[in-house]
Amino acid sequence: MRESELPKVTFVSASGETEVVEIETGISLMEGAVSNGVAGIDAECGGNCYCGTCRVYIDAAWHEHIGPPGDYELPVIETTGDSEPLVRLSCQITVSDDLDGLTVRTPASQT
Ligand code: FES
Repeated sequence: MRESELPKVTFVSASGETEVVEIETGISLMEGAVSNGVAGIDAECGGNCYCGTCRVYIDAAWHEHIGPPGDYELPVIETTGDSEPLVRLSCQITVSDDLDGLTVRTPASQT
């Protein structure tokens, strides 16, 4: 049997629990997390860049590759009061093959 070639993303909860999921390319990191039952991504607005409850903290090694929040994303993050420097909205990150191995943490405020 051929091993899956989907990108693997590691989610680390605020309490340190780790979950590795395979996510198809072309969908958002949020969609991939929710469809795989990852805890800590609430995504109350369903990916419309409105609620700020799909926040993830990008591993420092990946931050330059992922890039900063976009023009629509930054104000939403600011309304959450989250001051983590490497915060992004996972609904605004599209999964691609080059994200294989990405690690993100989820905030304690998201369950
Ligand atoms: Fe609501 Fe990302 S799912 S802002």
